[in-house]
Amino acid sequence: MAHSEYWLQTKRLALRQFTPNDYEWLVALYSDAEVMRYGGGVKSPEQVKLVMQERILDYYDANPGFGVWQTVERSTATPVGFHVLNNIQGESIIQIGYFLLKPAWSRGYATEMARALLRYGFEELRLTHIAGMTERDNLASQHVLTKIGLRRNGERAFPHPAYAHAGPMAWFEREAVDWIAEHGSEPSDS
Ligand SMILES: CC(C)(COP(=O)(O)OP(=O)(O)OC[C@H]1O[C@@H](n2cnc3c(N)ncnc32)[C@H](O)[C@@H]1OP(=O)(O)O)[C@@H](O)C(=O)NCCC(=O)NCCS
Repeated sequence: MAHSEYWLQTKRLALRQFTPNDYEWLVALYSDAEVMRYGGGVKSPEQVKLVMQERILDYYDANPGFGVWQTVERSTATPVGFHVLNNIQGESIIQIGYFLLKPAWSRGYATEMARALLRYGFEELRLTHIAGMTERDNLASQHVLTKIGLRRNGERAFPHPAYAHAGPMAWFEREAVDWIAEHGSEPSDS
């Protein structure tokens, strides 16, 4: 994989835009019941096709700077999952999120790239507020959101079919001014 495809890098990881060639890889990720346990369950190849077109490929042009990107382990050029900085479906609120394949779990990868993406959102995109939400039982994901500097603020439910199954979800958010004051304006960790 050409390194020029990487638009955001940390010590161990990089993000690249998806292309239509990644369809089979996405189908495999979305078909893993453990990975999708807190993501609305597995998706069929037809459902993945729709998500890929509307939420990933078309979204890049419609929403410059935002999206869903493949997360790649730099040392091996292996795709390990994806990170997102996009709108909560049906809302204008910007969220951060991540889904990793199982071999990549418990190595700090979700946190490492989410922290860099949060900084990009606040400093490059000049977002004033970023949110994160997870199902109430997804404690690992909640821990990641806390580690990157979002704060728990109760629960929120959203009517969009992508989230309605979950009911009220653990809600996290942070204002840019507070996060930058706490974390400084230079990355110290990636
Ligand atoms: C949730 C997920 C992204 C975490 O990725 P990860 O790379 O393993 O996360 P990290 O290693 O950066 O951090 C996870 C933290 O949660 C902790 N953790 C793991 N399982 C936990 C649990 N059941 N309860 C509490 N904390 C837990 C880890 O110890 C770690 O914290 P630490 O660094 O203080 O030890 C990954 O498991 C995943 O992709 N799951 C499936 C998809 C998903 O649920 N995505 C989130 C949807 S909102």
